[in-house]
Amino acid sequence: MAPLPPLVRWGSLISAIAAVVLAYSYQQQHPLLFDPLPVYCYNSIRTHDSHQPSAECFSVKDGVFAGVWARDDGDAAAKDTDVTVSEGHVIPGLWDGHGHLLQYGEFLHSVDLFGSQSLDEVRLRIKTYLEANPEAGTENHWLRGVGWDQSAFGRMPTADDIEQDEQLRGIFMMLDRIDVHCSWVSQAVLNLLPDEIPNVPGGEVIRDPGPGVFCDNAMDMIMDLWPKPGAEEKARAVKSAMKELNKVGLVGMHDAGVTAENARLYSELASSSPDWTVRVYGMLECDKRNTFCPEDAPMLSDQDAKFTLRSVKLFADGALGSWGSAMLDPYADHPWTSGSLLINASALTQVTKSWASKGFQVNIHAIGDLANRNAIDAFQAALEQQCLDERGDSDALLLAGCQSRHHRFRIEHAQIIHPDDQKRIRALGIIPSIQPTHATSDMRYAEQRLGPERTSSEAYRMKTLLDINPVLGSDFPVEPPNPFQGIYAAMTRKNPQTGLGPDPENPSRGWHTEETLSLDEALLGFTRNAAYGAFLEHSAGIIRQGSFADWVVLDEPLEDMDVEKLRTLKVKETWVGGRKVYSRDERD
Ligand SMILES: *[C@@H]1O[C@H](CO)[C@@H](O)[C@H](O)[C@H]1NC(C)=O
Ligand SMILES: [Zn+2]
Repeated sequence: MAPLPPLVRWGSLISAIAAVVLAYSYQQQHPLLFDPLPVYCYNSIRTHDSHQPSAECFSVKDGVFAGVWARDDGDAAAKDTDVTVSEGHVIPGLWDGHGHLLQYGEFLHSVDLFGSQSLDEVRLRIKTYLEANPEAGTENHWLRGVGWDQSAFGRMPTADDIEQDEQLRGIFMMLDRIDVHCSWVSQAVLNLLPDEIPNVPGGEVIRDPGPGVFCDNAMDMIMDLWPKPGAEEKARAVKSAMKELNKVGLVGMHDAGVTAENARLYSELASSSPDWTVRVYGMLECDKRNTFCPEDAPMLSDQDAKFTLRSVKLFADGALGSWGSAMLDPYADHPWTSGSLLINASALTQVTKSWASKGFQVNIHAIGDLANRNAIDAFQAALEQQCLDERGDSDALLLAGCQSRHHRFRIEHAQIIHPDDQKRIRALGIIPSIQPTHATSDMRYAEQRLGPERTSSEAYRMKTLLDINPVLGSDFPVEPPNPFQGIYAAMTRKNPQTGLGPDPENPSRGWHTEETLSLDEALLGFTRNAAYGAFLEHSAGIIRQGSFADWVVLDEPLEDMDVEKLRTLKVKETWVGGRKVYSRDERD
């Protein structure tokens, strides 16, 4: 064919380009007329988008929302679209701001000892478990369990409590206490240790009424012996965990402690496994606690946030239940101690600054008011290091702006904070990561530990910290992962299991109700604030064009629901990236 004259060639090229551009922009404005996208309409949709707080329909493309609109808005009605109209009320997919994915999966595959009332009951539960899992209890596959509490037994349990039972004699087992700060092992495991078991600084080897229980740092001796699950077993645990999380409306979670090895596994599973149905925002935990180990785990992220790693977890102190949290003043019920720090203030500041200089978000576990003060000091020092302007000024406003734009340092738990430090954390915008069900589990004994004054001015603040957008979560498997129970606990400060407050004289009254949150405030903690705490506020926790197509379908609108119904609410469906990952009415 003879070549066309140049002018004609250029002319047709230009018009071809123009046609493509026109078609493209037309499609952008009228996506439904071209490639019919799936459209979903419901009775109501709560979006958490201030420009369009409610809607009835949305469309989905490539795992994100392509459009969100009210039912009677034009395009949606186009005949050739693939519209699914369903009964139900939609909220944005929920996030748990602090949980432990793998441990939860392992918990699901282990003996559940929560609420066991006697040693006999523990033995019975172990036997029932062994019937269903006959492979457990061998040297290479120990039986695991969690949830016992010696206060139900009247004394510490011992290895002999298991060994004296004929059916259980000789099994290898390790059972974690309810707060996972102690492990109870069997005689077969004790036999692997030296005859004279040494004491361990920062830990306790229980010897009365007999050997078998190891607490805090003393647990390491047992962990070193425990045959660790391999990648396949971990993948199975993660899959089970994600299934349960989807079932309660969770589409994402912040994993508060991922080893470098597990981070590599997560990254692999996230990109390849169809069972990876929860977005995970991981906090790296170095093999040696409270250290600087950036070479172990590079920052990881993918476009759809299936697995992100850009934060690190440090630990300032232990737990309140075992008097391990570090307090400014002694405990009211143990006046000879004020708990202990796991790392001194200057070392905490140093390691925080090191991580911050590498661009990592630093998330410090802090329960007691001394631990919280040290965490705030460390963050302030790191912000001063990272954020000084040219003039060398470092006022709180400048630091707060820099914190919110670049660092988003967080305090995990943030349970007991001195009033002076409550002011500081708010001025700097340090993110409190709070578990409302911890408050309602601890309310039984918190006041004994702290005394009335500290309890009412420092403990388990939520409303007081509202202006710095607390991230809410559950700390599963320490507490159940159901976010509606967390919302209930935040709204009522009553135990979601029982519906009761701490005062037996007046059980319908919540604990320090001046700190309760409203439904909207609590829900934002599990959506918008959790997203913000993970640098994901543009894509998660919101139903808006361009954000992840993650949503939850409920039978009734939350805002009309009696708050007591939250305790037993069952999610109807959960969708992640435009895919239905849980449906109550379908068998799996
Ligand atoms: C804090 O801990 C570090 C590291 O363990 C140690 O080198 C340092 O001497 C300690 N500082 C104080 C003031 O105790
Ligand atoms: Zn935790």
